Amino acid sequence: MALSLDGKIGLNDGHFPDWTAKGDKRLFAKLTKQAGVLVRGRKTYDTIGKPLPERHTMVMTRNKNLISDHSDLTYTGDTPAQIVADLADKYDEIIIAGGAQINTIWQQSGLITDIIVTINPVILGGGIGLFAEGISANFKLQKVETDDQLVILHYTPTA
Ligand SMILES: NC(=O)c1ccc[n+]([C@@H]2O[C@H](COP(=O)([O-])OP(=O)(O)OC[C@H]3O[C@@H](n4cnc5c(N)ncnc54)[C@H](OP(=O)(O)O)[C@@H]3O)[C@@H](O)[C@H]2O)c1
Repeated sequence: MALSLDGKIGLNDGHFPDWTAKGDKRLFAKLTKQAGVLVRGRKTYDTIGKPLPERHTMVMTRNKNLISDHSDLTYTGDTPAQIVADLADKYDEIIIAGGAQINTIWQQSGLITDIIVTINPVILGGGIGLFAEGISANFKLQKVETDDQLVILHYTPTA
């Protein structure tokens, strides 16, 4: 997840992510292609409107009328536990890639094993945080990296 300096992931639920640093886009492409699958909320998916190449996109929605016509795209109303169970045969890891509503559901599920956030050199001046609801959890900082204008923070949950 890309964060602005003021801790936001986007100005509003339709904000196209054109403000993130190049290093963030590079890292996102690398991690999601490595995993082979990413899960996003329907609102985040709609900001781009098409599946990303060379990886599968699962879009979480409650709208049963949404049917994918693309082999790289699946709409799902399943819970995180059901999604993990379904993907476990084919993938070793799953990237949960926002937005705030979907991050919240997955954090509440207890299935998150790693959090990677990037700090991008921009102030959005308002908007949406990493989670949509009050979440309380503790993490351990595992790694700090930089890439040009970017700081990359890697956390794991504490027991
Ligand atoms: N900076 C970053 O790295 C980054 C990454 C991703 C997204 N974003 C930003 O995040 C914003 C969007 O976030 P958001 O929180 O508004 O929306 P979101 O999490 O992307 O999507 C919300 C949608 O997910 C579906 N949903 C919610 N709970 C569900 C459940 N329990 N089961 C199945 N589906 C469920 C619903 O879709 P339906 O309405 O279709 O039912 C809901 O409208 C945008 O600004 C985007 O740019 C930023």
